[in-house]
Amino acid sequence: MDRAIIRGIGSYVPDRVLTNADLESMVETTHEWIVTRTGIESRHICLDTENTSDLCLEAAKHAVANAGIAVCDLDMIVTATITPDFQFPSTACLIQEKLGCNDIPCFDLGAACSGFIYALDVARNSIASNASIKNVLVIGGEKLSSVVDWEDRSTCVLFGDGAGAAVISRAPGVGETGILDVLIGADGRCAKLLYCPGSDVSSGTERHLKMEGREVFKEAVRRMCAAVEDILLRNHLSIEDIACVVPHQANTRIITAIAERVKIPEEKLFVNLAHTGNTSAASIPIALDEAVREGKIQSGNLVLLVAFGAGMTWGSALVRWT
Ligand code: COA
Repeated sequence: MDRAIIRGIGSYVPDRVLTNADLESMVETTHEWIVTRTGIESRHICLDTENTSDLCLEAAKHAVANAGIAVCDLDMIVTATITPDFQFPSTACLIQEKLGCNDIPCFDLGAACSGFIYALDVARNSIASNASIKNVLVIGGEKLSSVVDWEDRSTCVLFGDGAGAAVISRAPGVGETGILDVLIGADGRCAKLLYCPGSDVSSGTERHLKMEGREVFKEAVRRMCAAVEDILLRNHLSIEDIACVVPHQANTRIITAIAERVKIPEEKLFVNLAHTGNTSAASIPIALDEAVREGKIQSGNLVLLVAFGAGMTWGSALVRWT
C-alpha cells in the first residue's frame, strides 16, 4: 500500500505586529501579566483588508514551492479554519480560485485548534482510499482577530492571526517515512467552555469568542497528555524515540504541564508562541514550518504533533520526516 508523506510545508503571518505594550493601552493589563500567565510577547494581526483566505494563499504558495510541485498537480484542498472569509462558500474554494487550480474538490473543516491534525487525517485517508488523489493541500488558517472581543482582557491577549500549509503526497510502497498514525477525538459536553456564537453584532446578539480559561486549561492538559500517551502506546514507541514534539501553541504553562507529565525533555519541544500567540488551526503548521527551517527537524526524524481546541477537540499525529 502507498504512503502519505509531508512533501512540502510553508507558513505566513500578517506584517502588522501587536505587542503586549500595545495591549496595555487597549485594556487593563501588563506585559508582565501576559508573559507570566501565557508566554506570549506579541502576535500578528491582519489589516481590515486581509482575510483568512489571503493568509492561506501565501502559506499555500510556500508549501507548494517547498514540495517542488506545480499548483496544477494538486488534487484536493482542505482548509482547517474557524474564521472563514464567508459563511459560504468555503475558504478552500476561495483559495482554489486564487491559486488557479480549477475543478479539484475543496472544503473547509472545523475542529478549531485541532483542525490541522484532523485535516492531516482526512488527507492521508483520501490518499489511501482514492487512487486518483496524489497531492492534497492541507491548510490551517485563521483571522482570530475578527472574533476576539478587544475589550475582554482575559481573552484578547491570547490570540493571533496566521496560516500554515502542507502538501501531503502519495509515495510508493511501504517505506520508512510519512504520516505513520493520526489520533483524533472530541467531547461535545465541553462545547461551552470555549465558543463563539457568531451572530452579527448589528443584530444585537453577541458574536465574540467566549472562554472559561481555567477549565479549558485543565482539559487541554488532560486531553493532550492522553493523546501523546495513547498514540505512542498503540505504535509501540516511547518518548525517547521522538526527535521533536510540536504542540499546539496556546500557552507555555499548558505546554510545560504536558511536558512534565509525559516526560518530554525541554530540548525536544518546539515552542514559538512568544511571537505568534494562539493562532488556532494555524498554530501547528506555522510551528512545524519554523522548526524545519531552523533545522530542528531533519529527514528521518520521528515528529509528534499534538493539539487541543474548542469542541472540545484533540488530536495527535506521528510523522517520520521525509
Ligand atoms: N491582565 C491582567 N489581569 C488579568 C488578565 C489580563 N490580561 N486577564 C485576566 N486577569 C485577571 C482576572 O480578572 C483575575 O483577577 P481577579 O483575581 O481580581 O478576579 C486574575 O487575573 C486571575 O484570572 P484567572 O482567569 O484565574 O487567571 P489564570 O491564571 O487562569 O490565567 C488564562 C488566565 C486565560 C491565561 C488561563 O486560564 C489559560 O491560559 N487558560 C487556557 C486558555 C487557552 O489556552 N485557550 C485556548 C485553548 S485552544
